[in-house]
Amino acid sequence: MGDKMIAPVRNRESLDNKKMYLSLRDEQLSLCIVLEEIADSLPERVDAAVCKHVAKTLPLIIEGAHRYEEDVIFPLLEKSKISSVDLKTTIKRLKIEHLGDKCFAEELSEVLASYGKGMPNLAAEATGYMLRGFFEALRRHIAFEAELFANVFDFEF
Ligand SMILES: [Fe+2]
Repeated sequence: MGDKMIAPVRNRESLDNKKMYLSLRDEQLSLCIVLEEIADSLPERVDAAVCKHVAKTLPLIIEGAHRYEEDVIFPLLEKSKISSVDLKTTIKRLKIEHLGDKCFAEELSEVLASYGKGMPNLAAEATGYMLRGFFEALRRHIAFEAELFANVFDFEF
């Protein structure tokens, strides 16, 4: 019977959430790779077109991930009753990190836009430092969330 192929709604939702989360995570990790490449290319080999593109997409990628996590995944986490962490405190901390990353992403976007125009508003060394600060923190944030969210998705399956 074909009916057996259709997962119950609850599991389907869970699958969709997992798929969505993984695609948002991959997008952020790809962004980190590009930011690292920009940092490595400073100052002589920096590609203005790449900077211009990343300046536009960076805030959108970050905002999209934050929105999905806060609107969909955090509420699922709250329902999951994981006992290994203090969820309230952890979610509060993650939201604060999101806020910090959002501001940081906007600043970085402005700097990259200036490189895109060929008129850097920040010295190469400081830009490299800023880029590394951003993607290193973002990778740590993503790694921590991945461990935490695995509880939700496993719980739902
Ligand atoms: Fe997050």
